[in-house]
Amino acid sequence: MLAFYDHEESEFYGLCVEELLTRRPAMTHVHEFGAGSGQAMVNVIRRVDFQGRMRGFELDETSAASARELILQSGLTGRYDVRHGDFFTGLRPGEKRRCVVANPPYLPHSEELPAFPHLSGGHTGAGISKRILSAGFDTVLMMISSYADPCSVLAHARACGYTLTSWMVLPLRMGAFSRRPHVRRRIDAMARAGTAFVAGERYLLAGGVWDRTGRGDQSAVLSRVMSRFGVS
Ligand SMILES: C[S@@+](CC[C@H](N)C(=O)[O-])C[C@H]1O[C@@H](n2cnc3c(N)ncnc32)[C@H](O)[C@@H]1O
Repeated sequence: MLAFYDHEESEFYGLCVEELLTRRPAMTHVHEFGAGSGQAMVNVIRRVDFQGRMRGFELDETSAASARELILQSGLTGRYDVRHGDFFTGLRPGEKRRCVVANPPYLPHSEELPAFPHLSGGHTGAGISKRILSAGFDTVLMMISSYADPCSVLAHARACGYTLTSWMVLPLRMGAFSRRPHVRRRIDAMARAGTAFVAGERYLLAGGVWDRTGRGDQSAVLSRVMSRFGVS
């Protein structure tokens, strides 16, 4: 697989992480789910001059190798490292789970064996996102898509004891993967069932921050924003 980096999507993810690290300078130990090419986090670490430690995981071997090469060339060794492997099995038992950042795979599909398994979020697109929310981190920054059952992701976060404390949203045009016929058919079926929200080829990508504060939950507002997208 070619290492994932989409200028608009990856940079919006980077902007959300930048916002979090700038507002919370004490956040010095960060895990990353799915580094892709590593470009998005390399740009953030440079912009905010992050002096903590970011530990990325990347399932795809070629992507992990390009991320590591980029980190080396950028002089960020020791501040950002990317390990090849599965995030969920790579987490060490007993290690502190303070913060995870993620732009997870969220393509919905109906096949047993999707063409791009590393970018698949399962039948509704929300499967990996829910697993990240269930992984026991204190703070989660995660991107959620309006075409991947966003309201159920928000409900799952609440069920895991999280409060959505801040969020940003950006309308995006579907990329090459989401426009592939079998993915698009699944999105359209979900839209008819009221679990995906699109306007033609446009969808909303939100970057949410969940904490365990118990106060000021904004998930009902984001749920309304997502579920009204494309409704005329
Ligand atoms: C949507 S891409 C985002 C890449 C990068 N964070 C960005 O925004 O440019 C999701 C990435 O997660 C990786 N991935 C999928 N499942 C994973 C898993 N279980 N553990 C680690 N990485 C995974 C994919 O290979 C892919 O590179």
